Amino acid sequence: MAKTIFITGASSGIGKATARFFQAKGWHVIATMRHPEKETELTGLENVTVLPLDVTSPEQILTTVQKAIALRPIDVVVNNAAFGIVGALEGTTDQDMQRILDTNVLGVIRVTRAFLPHFRERQSGVLISISSEGGFMAYPYFSLYHATKWAVEGWTESMAFELKPFGIQIKTILPGPTQTDFGNAIITAVHPDYEAGFNKFTNGYLMEEMVRKFQPVDLVTAVIYQAATDGKDQLRYLAGAVADSNYDKRMKLGADLFHKELEKAAM
Ligand SMILES: NC(=O)c1ccc[n+]([C@@H]2O[C@H](COP(=O)([O-])OP(=O)(O)OC[C@H]3O[C@@H](n4cnc5c(N)ncnc54)[C@H](OP(=O)(O)O)[C@@H]3O)[C@@H](O)[C@H]2O)c1
Repeated sequence: MAKTIFITGASSGIGKATARFFQAKGWHVIATMRHPEKETELTGLENVTVLPLDVTSPEQILTTVQKAIALRPIDVVVNNAAFGIVGALEGTTDQDMQRILDTNVLGVIRVTRAFLPHFRERQSGVLISISSEGGFMAYPYFSLYHATKWAVEGWTESMAFELKPFGIQIKTILPGPTQTDFGNAIITAVHPDYEAGFNKFTNGYLMEEMVRKFQPVDLVTAVIYQAATDGKDQLRYLAGAVADSNYDKRMKLGADLFHKELEKAAM
């Protein structure tokens, strides 16, 4: 029987590309998104079901997960939905903080919790969260985004112990900068006292170093496919040369020296 994958945030970027990739490999795909009424591409594909899901709604998580399980047994869940905030912390509002934690952290945790009875019953299942290289390192002016991705990493490590006795795997994917719509959805937090430093970072390092190295999205979906199918007891999957090289540097130099090196380059 063909396997089934459930994906959050499948309206664009990595989520949508993952839906296409698994469908092409013969999987059934349950692609969830905030506005399914706007979707035209995935709805036309065989074996793809599009369901509504805003991961900040605990009620909708329960309803949509129940609907999905009623359709078919689920083998893999990809927690992909997230967004970024860039700028100085003092330029952010309480609403920004609440929203990013609700989406990038609680969304992941609640969707996972909703699937656990199903996975325990089947004594199998793979839970994959799209984290980021920003889950093991930190760039300037992305503090809230990093807070969410580091949270997902720590939470995943702890959950792995808890789920192993039930035959359930939990993993993270750590992409470097990738060509998606991510930049368009970023909230920019503005504060006049931080403007000079922020502009230096965004006009210098962010532009030259990072934008130039944005990798194609299919490189990430191939790593997601590997994590979903390799059966390995492996927590983290780096996705792309930038994430690989940053991870290596951080491991070799140690966290503090790596931070100092990044400061020289980015500030
Ligand atoms: N692009 C990169 O450079 C990069 C690098 C490392 C990690 N990542 C991670 O990759 C994942 C996917 O991002 P992307 O690059 O593909 O960006 P993207 O194209 O902006 O996709 C983000 C998706 O999340 C959805 N989303 C946002 N808030 C949501 C909510 N409350 N409920 C449900 N869906 C929600 C968006 O849906 P709407 O269409 O409704 O807004 C969109 O489908 C994220 O976890 C991101 O942190 C991206």
